Amino acid sequence: MAPDKVNNSDKPSTSASSLREHLSHNHRKIMTILITGGTGKTGLALAGLLHDSGYSFLITSRKGTAPAPYKAIKFDWFKPETFEAPFQSDSNIDKVFLIDPPAFDIFPRVKPFIDIALSRGVKRFVGLTTTQTNPKDVPLGKVHQYLLDLGVDYAILRPTWFIENFGTDLQPSIRDDDEIASSGEDGKVPFVSVKDIAAAAFIALTAEESLNKDIFVIGPNLYSYDEACISLLDDTLGRLTWRNSLRTVEEQTEMFQQFLSPEYAAHLARVEHLIADGGEEKFFYESEDRKYVGKHTLAEYIESNRALWMK
Ligand SMILES: NC(=O)c1ccc[n+]([C@@H]2O[C@H](COP(=O)([O-])OP(=O)(O)OC[C@H]3O[C@@H](n4cnc5c(N)ncnc54)[C@H](OP(=O)(O)O)[C@@H]3O)[C@@H](O)[C@H]2O)c1
Repeated sequence: MAPDKVNNSDKPSTSASSLREHLSHNHRKIMTILITGGTGKTGLALAGLLHDSGYSFLITSRKGTAPAPYKAIKFDWFKPETFEAPFQSDSNIDKVFLIDPPAFDIFPRVKPFIDIALSRGVKRFVGLTTTQTNPKDVPLGKVHQYLLDLGVDYAILRPTWFIENFGTDLQPSIRDDDEIASSGEDGKVPFVSVKDIAAAAFIALTAEESLNKDIFVIGPNLYSYDEACISLLDDTLGRLTWRNSLRTVEEQTEMFQQFLSPEYAAHLARVEHLIADGGEEKFFYESEDRKYVGKHTLAEYIESNRALWMK
């Protein structure tokens, strides 16, 4: 589904199609999309797309600031007293992009916000979960299930592992130790760019008809971590990166516990290990109507961010 063409003229025209275009253009300006997690990787990429197409939107952040020229409002998933603030700041919010809190048991945090949003006139929610998260699953699937139970317009985007992890979570060990440690063994992943997840979110938020389904969001190529090292990192960095230093689920749990709660760390290590048995590769072969295939590649990301991994 391609995004609508943008009409830059504010002048009404007499033809029916121009009139429709004019009304749709004005709707973009009048109604506001709220981007939770709007200062993050996906949220900021989405903000860029909405900005370029003339949509009105508001970003949430704990500090209440966002990169210029975007407008932000203070909001914290762990402070329910901040949940009304976006709607007090802008009474025209009718769609919400949901990046859930960085915690394991998120549903008690998110449900009250969804309820407030509905009471303030929100008509559509677009949420981000993961390929491995089915409705009802803890942590993110409970929100998915709640949207289904409410019967509201919604879309759930289920991305695979992000390409950008190579430049964030995996960056220090690649740079300092020439190593990618994972429990994924030689399983393949259709790594996806946050730019493509944002593009899918843009469509889900701005399409005239709500998608009302969940879709897997994947990248255009499959790589194991070994292959990423051999064919991409080594060539670009001019040195040998360690071939997917193998970790057991227990070792990965211990590593993830450095920045996540024990239950979340164990969950993430289990999910990562699914890669080994083709648990991520299978989404590459999903039917066309169940997936959104991005166009940005891991190769392109590694080439253009070379400096991140230089010693
Ligand atoms: N990385 C992967 O491979 C992967 C794969 C599949 C799915 N996902 C999902 O992607 C999501 C993360 O997306 P992302 O990487 O685009 O985000 P991100 O770059 O990690 O940014 C997180 C955002 O959440 C906001 N935030 C953090 N704590 C908050 C709090 N207490 N209250 C309100 N906002 C808070 C931050 O805003 P401020 O700091 O400004 O408040 C920031 O905008 C997670 O749900 C994750 O499960 C990730």
